[in-house]
Amino acid sequence: MQNASTRVFGHRGAKGYLAENTLESIEKALNFNVDGIEIDVHLCASGELVVFHDFTLDRMTNGTGEVGKQTLKALKELIVNGGFQIPTLEEVLNLIDKKCLLNIELKGKNTAIKTCEIVSNYVQNRGWDDTDFIVSSFQHTELETMFQTNKNIPLAVLTKASVTEAVEFAKTIQAKIIHPNFALLTKDNVKLAQSLGFEVNTWTVNDADTILRMKQYGVNGIISDVPDKI
Ligand code: G3P
Ligand code: CA
Repeated sequence: MQNASTRVFGHRGAKGYLAENTLESIEKALNFNVDGIEIDVHLCASGELVVFHDFTLDRMTNGTGEVGKQTLKALKELIVNGGFQIPTLEEVLNLIDKKCLLNIELKGKNTAIKTCEIVSNYVQNRGWDDTDFIVSSFQHTELETMFQTNKNIPLAVLTKASVTEAVEFAKTIQAKIIHPNFALLTKDNVKLAQSLGFEVNTWTVNDADTILRMKQYGVNGIISDVPDKI
């Protein structure tokens, strides 16, 4: 019943074990031999992409206020819960070094162009392939910018609202992947999306019953805080 080829993605690295979106959390996921790692990016005030989930610093660091209003220098001076540092996208790429897929979620606004620049640089100069990446977002405008800027980078449409709507939007940007929340999925809508040519990677799946159910549905990938449990 289980699909042996289900891809396993570590969510924000290995969020279940170490502070999310840190190099340490990503290293933990790599040590679980994941097929991929999901991270979130924001553009900071000095123009770099930083790997961080929330729009504000309060929950995960000793800082306050919006991530996007701080320079990289100021963000690097903050302490992430547990004694870690906020990494840049390049630091994450250098750590992963092609050992697995990287799913970059464009969380903040105006992240698409810089993401294209960095991905293109690593593809042209650092031995990565476009297919080593999946760029996902809930924000249709960011995905549209990705599509207009570089048609080679695989795109995924995130949704916590509707598989049908995600599929319809995906067609407009030639995305071949959808990333629905697991609560939206049925065996039938997974099969339908796949029959239309889409891969289905679902999030955030952590408990044993849901992991089994998603495998029985035949999803292509599972994004989990505890990727060692998939
Ligand atoms: O990319 C899947 C998942 O991470 C989307 O939701 O809020 O955890 O970024 P969130
Ligand atoms: Ca995310």
